[in-house]
Amino acid sequence: MATNQGKMNGRPGRNGRNGRKAALRYAHIIGWGMEVPARVMTNDEISQIVDTSDQWIRERTGIRERHIAGPKDSTATLALRAAKRALEVADVNPADLDLVIVATATPEHLFPATACLVQDWLGASNAGAFDLSAGCTGFIYALNLAAQTIVSGAADTVLVVGSETLSRIVNWEDRGTCVLFGDGAGAVVLRASNAPGGVLTGLLRSDGSGSELLSLPAGGSRFPPSPETVANGMHKIHMNGREVFRFATRVMTQATRSVVEDLGLTLNDVALIIPHQANIRIIEAAARSLGIPMDRVYVNVDRYGNTSSASIPIALCEAIQSGKVKPDDYIVLVAFGAGLTWGATAIKWVPTPPPPSPLSQRAREVGYWLAALRSAWRRLIRRLESWVRGLAAQSQ
Ligand code: ACO
Repeated sequence: MATNQGKMNGRPGRNGRNGRKAALRYAHIIGWGMEVPARVMTNDEISQIVDTSDQWIRERTGIRERHIAGPKDSTATLALRAAKRALEVADVNPADLDLVIVATATPEHLFPATACLVQDWLGASNAGAFDLSAGCTGFIYALNLAAQTIVSGAADTVLVVGSETLSRIVNWEDRGTCVLFGDGAGAVVLRASNAPGGVLTGLLRSDGSGSELLSLPAGGSRFPPSPETVANGMHKIHMNGREVFRFATRVMTQATRSVVEDLGLTLNDVALIIPHQANIRIIEAAARSLGIPMDRVYVNVDRYGNTSSASIPIALCEAIQSGKVKPDDYIVLVAFGAGLTWGATAIKWVPTPPPPSPLSQRAREVGYWLAALRSAWRRLIRRLESWVRGLAAQSQ
């Protein structure tokens, strides 16, 4: 699906009444945040587990270390911390969110959605919430969807999170995959504005004929969990690395070109490309093929490995915080992943919001505490109601 082909910008807002033309709506990123687990695992540590070496991993992937979830971390807890930081930067209260989307390949459960847990913990009481599964392209899909929802007038403020605990589904006996992945989360807050800019266009693609190249075969309806699926390692990542590598280098280039041309720009107009951080060789090959020097490509795969849906929001967050993204810059986000899926989006960056006032941050913290209280209260009431209904049924 070409989500908009340059048509995302410039839709009339929902207030256009009495035949009067409404102001155009744009979807701007107004907040960003990230979270990685405290525990860092180096290549040397991995070489104690499987037959590999720091030198092989660095040369073939560019990865030096990755963060690994601790016993108390999960996809939802990492997502929550990244989301709180993004709301803080945006100075947005959770009750103002219309939608919470969590892109993830490692959800907290098959259901309920991880996004529903995040919505509840934040106290985003006026928001819908759902998870989005598009492998490592998940954040690009979610960002495009969120922007379309805003531009169409269906929502004003949307939280988009990419969060993963891949260490929980990695086969720690398979040296071909376990060296690649890491855990983390990144989040952005998008808000409607009449100021031109923001998420301007996107391209989403899928080729399910390559589904077996990268999969977690069991645990769904095709292979429900059983002693056999566990014994056969079917709840772990299976990947044909060489084929994924070839696919990735091809589609990263195509998708980047497509969104840039969609806006009537050239690659020279793009200040920064933020690619999915899977392997430095894939990133360098794409940059070479696009003719873009590496100083215009953001890279942090050396410190985090491949964090799937979290990789782009983490990189975006770091790029903004380190001043690599400047007002009025055009930036391109581009990813590929399981599915097979791939996609890109082009953003015109607008000046960042002022820092939040300490008062509103304190109000948000009280809000989180009240949200926990309200959630606990609702659970209690539900239990009491079901207990009373049980008593009533017995006495009949
Ligand atoms: N340490 C040492 N040797 C290794 C390791 C390792 N960790 N892994 C593989 N090897 C060996 C292989 O066994 C093979 O040995 P052989 O020649 O004796 O058989 C040799 O290295 C070469 O193997 P290749 O698979 O050809 O290695 P390659 O250079 O292709 O690198 C890699 C493998 C890093 C996996 C690469 O193919 C790659 O990055 N692919 C893309 C993966 C990717 O991006 N996946 C994420 C997708 S996003 C998502 O949705 C999750």
